[in-house]
Amino acid sequence: MVMQIIRSIPDMQKTMLALRAQPDCRIGFVPTMGCLHEGHLSLIRQVRRLGCLPVVSLFVNPIQFGPREDFSRYPRPFDHDCRLCEQEGAAYLFAPSAEEMYPSGASVFVEETKLSGGLCGAARPGHFRGVTTVVTKLFQIVQPHVAAFGRKDAQQARIIAHLTACLNMPVEIEICPIVREPDGLAMSSRNRYLTPVERAQSVGLVEALREAAGLYRSGETGAAALIRAMEERLRQQGLLIPEYVAVVDYASLQPVETVGPSTLCALAVKVGSTRLIDNLLINAAGETVL
Ligand code: PAF
Repeated sequence: MVMQIIRSIPDMQKTMLALRAQPDCRIGFVPTMGCLHEGHLSLIRQVRRLGCLPVVSLFVNPIQFGPREDFSRYPRPFDHDCRLCEQEGAAYLFAPSAEEMYPSGASVFVEETKLSGGLCGAARPGHFRGVTTVVTKLFQIVQPHVAAFGRKDAQQARIIAHLTACLNMPVEIEICPIVREPDGLAMSSRNRYLTPVERAQSVGLVEALREAAGLYRSGETGAAALIRAMEERLRQQGLLIPEYVAVVDYASLQPVETVGPSTLCALAVKVGSTRLIDNLLINAAGETVL
């Protein structure tokens, strides 16, 4: 099937509503900002595995970037992204312009007020308001049955799951595993900003998380001890000033003192001028999942 590229909101909404009216069609949505890598492709595969028709959006959302962030230099390899989506079997690619999504006069925003304040939200004021606003708009346009997000952005995924529950949106949120490079670095569109020296240093994030996982598996349940060990590991890699090293409850994203099932160890570190994040989940069964 040839992938169809749609740029206008009315065309996309009309097409999706017609699909939704077909009794056996389930729309599986993968929202992205483009510059696709294996992590994104794994989301497309996951919605296909769930028996859904894969629909991808590609939109670098201006309102989730702060004034001094990388919106203007964010990579936009459109043709390459189209090819990858098509190869993975995406049926539709929605690629609106910023004017299409935010015509002048747009003055309604969607804001989550409990889970958004800490972790990345503390360092990036307004970021999650931008994410929840664009995701709400995209859900209105695409009308998906299922939408897939990566666990690398664990806070984002939790906020979106909470958003859909609070606003009674009829969409299932699928949170998918982190996809890593062979040395363990979590895949991210921003990895391409790294110089060779920074790329070598950046493996420190996953090493710090492995350290925490090892400590927990050997019986350490004190959050402070895990945080100390992660900070030490980052220091050894020359990553001296992490933005945060946190141990939180996976549901509430609030700090915990004791580590156990459903705990998230999360890091954000500036490597040169590039901000990287990663996390370790201790799942409900108490297993460590990188
Ligand atoms: O994770 C992303 O790429 C973006 O935050 C998202 C969910 C596509 C919203 O712009």
